[in-house]
Amino acid sequence: MLLKFESKYFYNCKKFLSTTAKPYSSLPTPKSWPLIGNAHLFGKKGPYTFERLTEAVNSLAKELGPVFKLKLGSTEMVISIDPEDSKKMFQAEGVRPFRPSFPALEHYRKNTYGSFGIVPGNGSEWYKFRKAINPLLKQLVYEAYFDRQKKVATNFADSLKAQLDGDGVLRDVHFHLTNFAIQAISVVTPGNLELSETEEFKEISKANVEFMDGLFRTFMGPPLWRLFKTKGYRLLENAHNKFHSLLKDKVDSAWVSFSSDPTNFKTEHPFMFEIMKNPELSKEDVVMLVMESFIGGIDATATAAAMCLNYLALNKESQEKAAKESQSAQNDFPYIRACIKETLRLSPTAGGTSRFLFRDAVIGNYLIPAKTLVSAFSSISSLQEEYFENPDSFVPERWLRDEELYKKHHPYASLPFGHGPRMCPGRRLADQELQLIVSEILKKYKLISIDDSPVGMVFRMNRVPDRKIDLKLVEKM
Ligand code: HEM
Repeated sequence: MLLKFESKYFYNCKKFLSTTAKPYSSLPTPKSWPLIGNAHLFGKKGPYTFERLTEAVNSLAKELGPVFKLKLGSTEMVISIDPEDSKKMFQAEGVRPFRPSFPALEHYRKNTYGSFGIVPGNGSEWYKFRKAINPLLKQLVYEAYFDRQKKVATNFADSLKAQLDGDGVLRDVHFHLTNFAIQAISVVTPGNLELSETEEFKEISKANVEFMDGLFRTFMGPPLWRLFKTKGYRLLENAHNKFHSLLKDKVDSAWVSFSSDPTNFKTEHPFMFEIMKNPELSKEDVVMLVMESFIGGIDATATAAAMCLNYLALNKESQEKAAKESQSAQNDFPYIRACIKETLRLSPTAGGTSRFLFRDAVIGNYLIPAKTLVSAFSSISSLQEEYFENPDSFVPERWLRDEELYKKHHPYASLPFGHGPRMCPGRRLADQELQLIVSEILKKYKLISIDDSPVGMVFRMNRVPDRKIDLKLVEKM
């Protein structure tokens, strides 16, 4: 791991921790090979693939116990599927949590633009960007986009009618919802994209897939991109360039509006206003942050929406309750919000959360030293009977206090947006977008599943559906 630690952020404190904890060296681990460690398990002849990392971790936890060590090339990490360990990891993450960087992205940005951005950044560089993006979590800021995002959702739901095939089926729901996610985030950042052409959507969608693919390949594979431009690196570079040139133009024109009428700009574009007035960000930093929030807002939102519609198509009673709520004149949808929470419990778009510990911690009764990489796999605990009754069933009621099926859950068992100072800054906005699109679609259509075989998840940086989701949409009179 080529991460440069800023040592002021880490400290060792073994003497304050339990003396009964076992040493780090005694952590269970699969049989290791010289140089590559456990990477052979994910090789051509190995039992696992990185695409199905959650399943691999689940299987290894059955063999080795809930906490174990894995060494992939030069990277050693502790993995836990126990939410109590997840809690301890977050307690030891410090105020500026370190996450594994994306070295290829960092390298490209540093050499091309001299600005890292929030996702690959750590320490002071990350903090500068994080402070700037945090206003997005404020109700006053994300709610300012409610009406515009509602309009996007209404128009999108209307447009679906023309996309149905002869049998009334919407093929590849995830693809269509990617277009929705692009429009919904573009209202916020850069704020002035105004997409209308199908070709533009196609290009952004394609660049999004290539960006995620390139990021995943350069992140998981050996760092050969340091020697020559590998396929993964080229995908990343091309997609990055596409996003950068598209967004830079829009940010340039936003600067003109910002300077000519700041008061009006603040009302119209509160998020852009917050980042543009930030004296710590250079103009290039602003483009980078716009790009990160734009890209961050596409994949996971589209996946969550597609999976949620599929669960609703499969669960008639839930669909009826959600549809009834969608007809109400209110702008608040507690049942639909619970459907989204339940979707993200069953099909989280992230496998878990990873941190380099800021201080020593006892995890699974092992003493883990500061700077160790720990991964808490909540995509496994969120499906365990121990934490959720009937874990494989879609039960939105389990999240609603007034319902009989409501249960107070372990607060770290399902963490689809992460936790702590590095928690997803777009979570409130995503929740708003998801409620709007689910309610607008249910207002107009009845959803019917035409294939009830399970939809799994595969990693493409984020986890995405492992097969196409096709749904029959019957227009309501
Ligand atoms: C359903 C939708 C979404 C899901 C499930 C999701 C999930 C996540 C997760 C799990 C993380 C890592 C958190 C951690 O390490 O603790 C994250 C980080 C991030 N997300 Fe989201 N996200 C979603 C939507 C969005 C949206 C709409 C934006 C747009 C602003 C966004 C921007 C980001 C950014 C910039 C980060 C990096 C934060 C940092 O490193 O400090 N996400 N997201």
